Amino acid sequence: MIEIKDLSVCYKWQNQDITALENLSIDIENGKIYTFIGPSGCGKSTLLYVLSGINKQYGGEVTIDGRGIDPKAQRIGLILQNYGLVPWKTVYQNAMLGLKIKKDRYRLDDYSRYIFEQLGINDLLKRYPKELSGGQQQRVAIARAFVMRPDLLLMDEPFSALDAITREEIQELFLNIWKEHQVTTVFITHSVDEALYLGSNIVVLSPAPGRVLENIKNPCFMMDDLRSKEVYHLMAGHLRDKLSAPFASCRLN
Ligand SMILES: Nc1ncnc2c1ncn2[C@@H]1O[C@H](COP(=O)(O)OP(=O)(O)OP(=O)(O)O)[C@@H](O)[C@H]1O
Ligand SMILES: [Mg+2]
Repeated sequence: MIEIKDLSVCYKWQNQDITALENLSIDIENGKIYTFIGPSGCGKSTLLYVLSGINKQYGGEVTIDGRGIDPKAQRIGLILQNYGLVPWKTVYQNAMLGLKIKKDRYRLDDYSRYIFEQLGINDLLKRYPKELSGGQQQRVAIARAFVMRPDLLLMDEPFSALDAITREEIQELFLNIWKEHQVTTVFITHSVDEALYLGSNIVVLSPAPGRVLENIKNPCFMMDDLRSKEVYHLMAGHLRDKLSAPFASCRLN
């Protein structure tokens, strides 16, 4: 379980304090997918920086299975909003970086081959990030997180740069991988549809500074033919109402 208690993060910018998160509290159960949705600038990426151990400057308490965050001890797969690829490493080296850091066997095994194949990056392995489109870079970042078989998967709008068809395919691939390993996942999205399709729980954040407005167990999770169901439309309407409260400015789709 990830326990977050009264998490506050404040950035300093030109002598100003910018409060990104304020007293955010939530328990995230193991083996579930929590989709977080909230207006732009409400602190979603900041939350992932804290959970991944990148940002250590925060108030409040955050523990994973009762221990402080330690990326060396925990197996955390991270997909950043700006992909986070290393420019001087090839696609292959970038995709295998998580395994290399963990000092795991660093070679192209059947599982990595399967992930590369599913993500359509096999023909790109020798290229450098600057020689890829945004969507291709995003797929490399997804591959890097998936091949290391993480215990905790942190994803910041991971499918946003993909075209609609590829996005649906990769959403499904993600759910298939999740079903096999039930990895605890924190998934940031701007899309109401994506939150409903992928989240076992949906967390709605307030406009900045972000707090939890609602933590809903998603009745639509793993429902067949989801988008034709009345409950999907009821839930989508409910989430849109929550998000269109005054000052909420997130892109809704
Ligand atoms: N390094 C920084 N220095 C100063 N302010 C920052 C810094 N990083 C983020 N912020 C501010 O903190 C707030 C939260 O930013 P964050 O990136 O976490 O939002 P977000 O919810 O991920 O937004 P989006 O949906 O647009 O990705 C914003 O007001 C942002 O401008
Ligand atoms: Mg963000």
